Amino acid sequence: MEKIKKFTDIVDIKNKRVLLRSDFNVPVFKEEIHDKTRIDVSIPFIQNLLKKKAKVILISHLGRPKSEKDMNLSLKPIFKYLQEKIDHKIHFYSHKITNNTKEKISFLKSGEIIFFENIRFNVGEIKNDENFAKNLSSVADIYINDAFSCCHRMQASVHKIAKFVKNSYAGPLLMKEISSIDMVLSNKKNPTTCIIGGSKVSTKIGVIVSLIKKVNNLILVGAMANNFIKFKGNNVGKSLIEDDSDKMIKEIYDKAKKNNCEIITPLDVAVSESMNGEAKLKDLNKITDNEMILDIGPKTIEKIYNIIDISKTVLWNGPAGYFENENFSKGTISIAEKISNMTKSRSLISIVGGGDTISAVKNNHINIDFTHLSTAGGAFLEYIEGKNLPGIEVLK
Ligand code: 3PG
Repeated sequence: MEKIKKFTDIVDIKNKRVLLRSDFNVPVFKEEIHDKTRIDVSIPFIQNLLKKKAKVILISHLGRPKSEKDMNLSLKPIFKYLQEKIDHKIHFYSHKITNNTKEKISFLKSGEIIFFENIRFNVGEIKNDENFAKNLSSVADIYINDAFSCCHRMQASVHKIAKFVKNSYAGPLLMKEISSIDMVLSNKKNPTTCIIGGSKVSTKIGVIVSLIKKVNNLILVGAMANNFIKFKGNNVGKSLIEDDSDKMIKEIYDKAKKNNCEIITPLDVAVSESMNGEAKLKDLNKITDNEMILDIGPKTIEKIYNIIDISKTVLWNGPAGYFENENFSKGTISIAEKISNMTKSRSLISIVGGGDTISAVKNNHINIDFTHLSTAGGAFLEYIEGKNLPGIEVLK
């Protein structure tokens, strides 16, 4: 396998323009950042670049903007947070990236940062546009990708950019993610259990089908499990479901049977008439038309505990319910505590990934202990699925 070009201390960055792709895609509501983990873990490396007198051009996306200037997805709140945390001058650049951006930011001094507004406000970013990547590359002598969580995206600031900046490297967080996941996967001991949550089966069907061949137990929770509950003939009321999911579910069961993988879906649930409501525990055949499923119930938690007890490796991505309302966070928190306790007692190798999963765990102030906690969601799943991630391929 070709080696990834990693950034090391040997690279001379003094007075050089270093374009750093980070992932500050964090939950922001009304300008308040609800989970700062992704930002906090990035800061030490940024400080290091500044200490070495680089001119840092910092880029990130936030959310999936529907228009070119969706101000709810501005990086301004994150800029303010960085100002509090970093003791160096930080400028904010709110303009589009064009062929004269290089000139416009030429005031940047060594040991300073310029933080670009949400990179996805530029249409060329999502299209992986050649011209846009060229314009972006013109501001840099060196490009560093430290956003493992974005590496599955074929977008200009993680993919096409590397074509135009000769000195392109993987940053320390990206390298740490890969080496930790590789280490866990290569030491993986069976039985292996994978827990997948999240809202849509369709976006995870590829990874689910591929994991079926690699794991002994696959536990499906979160809104995606609603489709399985319905598939088994239950009324799911107002719950979030996907159209035409039956074909995908049948494929999952067929593949699981062939590969001797046990599929576990909820046995009972917590429901409510609204997202802000109280939790009511229900067996699957008791859900009424005006209720929606928002978490797993105690029988399901018990079943998951039993499976974790007999597992030697656990991979987990995606919350078990609508944890943003604490009435529905019990499933997610219980899974986190169980995996953590088993990891502490050294009987379990665990990798936990996903921005939402981390937020759920952190917001509840649980003292967690996993073998590796990945800040990545989709990229983490695609990586463990064995796919080549575009953002990593270009750094080889
Ligand atoms: C993530 O949160 O997984 C990354 O920031 C990628 O975001 P995206 O799914 O919007 O591309």
